[in-house]
Amino acid sequence: TAKAAAPVSSFDFAEIDAGVDETHHVARGYDAAILLRWGDPIFADAPAFDPANQSAEAQLRQFGYNNDYVAFLPLDDTGTRGLICVNHEYTNEEVMFPGLGRQDKVDFAGMTAELVDIEMAAHGVSIVEIALENGTWTPVLTSRFNRRISPLSTEMAVDGPAAGHARLKTSADRTGKRVMGTLNNCAGGHTPWGTYLAAEENFHGYFWTDEKDAEGKRLTKGLGGDQQKSYERYAVPGGWYAWGRFHDRFNVDKEPNEPNRFGWVVEIDPNDPGSTPVKHTALGRFRHEGAETILNSDGRVVVYMGDDARFDYLYRFVSREAYREGDKAHNMALLSDGTLSVARFGEDGSMEWLPLVFGEGPLTPENGFESQADVLIDTRLAADLLGATPMDRPEDVQPNPATDRVYVMLTNNTKRKADATDAANPRGPNAFGHVVELTPPGGDHAAETFAWDILVTCGDPRVAEIGAVWNPATSDSGWFASPDNAAVDADGRLWISTDQGGSWPKTGKADGLYAVDTEGDARGLSRMFFRCPVGAEMCGPYFAPDGETLFVAVQHPATDGTKDYAPFARASTFENPATRWPDFEPGMPPRPSVLAIRKTGGGRIAKD
Ligand code: FEO
Ligand code: CA
Ligand code: CA
Ligand code: CA
Repeated sequence: TAKAAAPVSSFDFAEIDAGVDETHHVARGYDAAILLRWGDPIFADAPAFDPANQSAEAQLRQFGYNNDYVAFLPLDDTGTRGLICVNHEYTNEEVMFPGLGRQDKVDFAGMTAELVDIEMAAHGVSIVEIALENGTWTPVLTSRFNRRISPLSTEMAVDGPAAGHARLKTSADRTGKRVMGTLNNCAGGHTPWGTYLAAEENFHGYFWTDEKDAEGKRLTKGLGGDQQKSYERYAVPGGWYAWGRFHDRFNVDKEPNEPNRFGWVVEIDPNDPGSTPVKHTALGRFRHEGAETILNSDGRVVVYMGDDARFDYLYRFVSREAYREGDKAHNMALLSDGTLSVARFGEDGSMEWLPLVFGEGPLTPENGFESQADVLIDTRLAADLLGATPMDRPEDVQPNPATDRVYVMLTNNTKRKADATDAANPRGPNAFGHVVELTPPGGDHAAETFAWDILVTCGDPRVAEIGAVWNPATSDSGWFASPDNAAVDADGRLWISTDQGGSWPKTGKADGLYAVDTEGDARGLSRMFFRCPVGAEMCGPYFAPDGETLFVAVQHPATDGTKDYAPFARASTFENPATRWPDFEPGMPPRPSVLAIRKTGGGRIAKD
C-alpha cells in the first residue's frame, strides 16, 4: 500500500535547532540586524547611552526598556520609509542599574527617587522613523516624527463612557479626563486608519500602599474602601515597584482612584507627533495584553483583546459606526463608541459573545453597576456576572484577514485543576498553553456566535502525560510552549512567539518565533525560525506590508529562569548577567532590542 506523503510546511526556510545559549539565532539565509537597543538615541541631540551615568532626562531622548509590541507603519509606498512604534512594557532594575543588585520586594531599599524616574522614563512607547538603504534599516534621528511617550512625561486624554466619571478623578485631575502617561504596555495593535494601539497590561503592579501586615509585608487586600471589591478583582495594589514611595499618585492610600486610570487601550497617532494619546474606555478595563483590529465586511472595526490573568477572559469590541476611507477625524472616533463583549465557549465547538451593556441582564444597580462607566471600569466584575468562560491566560488575539479566522494565544495556567477543565481549556494543570482558533460565520466578526477549534495543544509531544497535540510532521525543534504573541505575514500565514517566563528550563528551549501552518494537511505543523538569547522572551513579531522585513523584539535578555540552569546559573545583576547580549562588552548590561530580519539579498520571508 502506498504511504501518504508527509505534510509539507507552507513556509520556505531551513528550521533552526531549539536550545539555549547567550545569543540569538535566525534561519540560515537570513540576516537579523539590531535596529534599536535600550538606550539608543532616537533624536539627533540625544546623549549616547552611558549605563554608568543614566538619567531620566537622557532616557526620555533614548529608546526605552523591554520592547514588546512592534508595529511598522509605512510613510509612503516605496517600502523604504516608515515609522516603527514600540511598546516598552516594564523594567528590570537589577540588570539596568549598576551597583543596585536584586531588591527586596517590600521596601526596595536601594531604589531612589532618581532611579524610579529613570524607570518611569524607560516605560511607555517609542516612535522612530526608519529608512531602508542597501538592505539595512536604520533609525532617522532627524525625523520630525520621532517621539518618546512615558508615564513621566506624556499627558493623555480619556474618552468614551467612563471619561470624567467620579472614579477617574484625582487631586491632580479634577476632570477625570486627563491622565499622565501609560504603563506596562505589553502587546498592542494598529488600526486601518494608521494609528497605533498600546495595551495597558499589569498596571496593578505599579501601585503601592504604606500599610503592612503583621509579618511586615505590604498589604495587597482589604484596601480601597468603597472600591475594595474592585481592588481585589484587579489585584490592586500589586507592589511590584517602588514608584509609590516617591510619587503619591502610585500610593493608593493617597490617591485611591489613580489605579482606575490605567488598564485601558491607548490610541496614538504616530503621524502627528504633537497629538495627545487617548485612553478609550469603551474597550474596557482589564489586563489588556493586546488590541488587534480587523475591518468587518460591513465597515465596522472589530478589536480582539485578551485579559492576561489565570481564569480571565477573552473580549471583543465592535464599533458602532463604520470606517470611512480617508476620513481620519471620523475614524479616530470609532474606538470611542461601540459594544464590548466577552466570550463564553460551548462544549460543542460554538461560542457566544456576551455584550457588556449597563441595564441588561445582571448589569444593574442591584449588582453595583450604576452606569456604563461602572461596567467599563469594572469590566472583570461585569464579565463574571455574565458567566464568561475562564481561560488559561489569554494573550495576543490575532485575526487573519486572509481567512477571517482568529487565533487566541492561551499561554498557560498551572492553577487549573484537573477537575475544572472544559473543552476550550482542556488541560489541568496547563503548564504549556494552547492556541484556540475562532471562525466567525461567513467571516462576520460582529456575529453573536462563532465556531471554535483548537489549533495546537503545546508542549513536548514525546511525553505522553503532557498531552500535546501537533501535526506529527513537527520536529523536536518545532514544538513550543507558552504562546504569547502572534502575527500574520503578507501571505496570510500565522507566526507565533513564545514567553515561557522562568519556566523555560522545563523545556530546555529558549523562547523564539515559530511558523505555524493552519491549512490543509500541514495544519498544526510548527517550525522554529528565530531563537532568543538566554533569559529573554520573544515579542514583536511584525511583518512589513511587502513581506520582506520581519521585526522582532527581544525582551528582558538575561533575566528569566537562569538561576538554576547551567551554564548560566545565576540570578542576573548588572555586574553579572547571564548574557551581555547584544553588545557583549564588559561593563555593558544586557539590552532589550528590536531586530529587523531580512533575507540575505532580499525577497519575501519564508517564501521562495
Ligand atoms: Fe506582558 Fe501577557 O504578557
Ligand atoms: Ca505578552
Ligand atoms: Ca499580534
Ligand atoms: Ca506572556
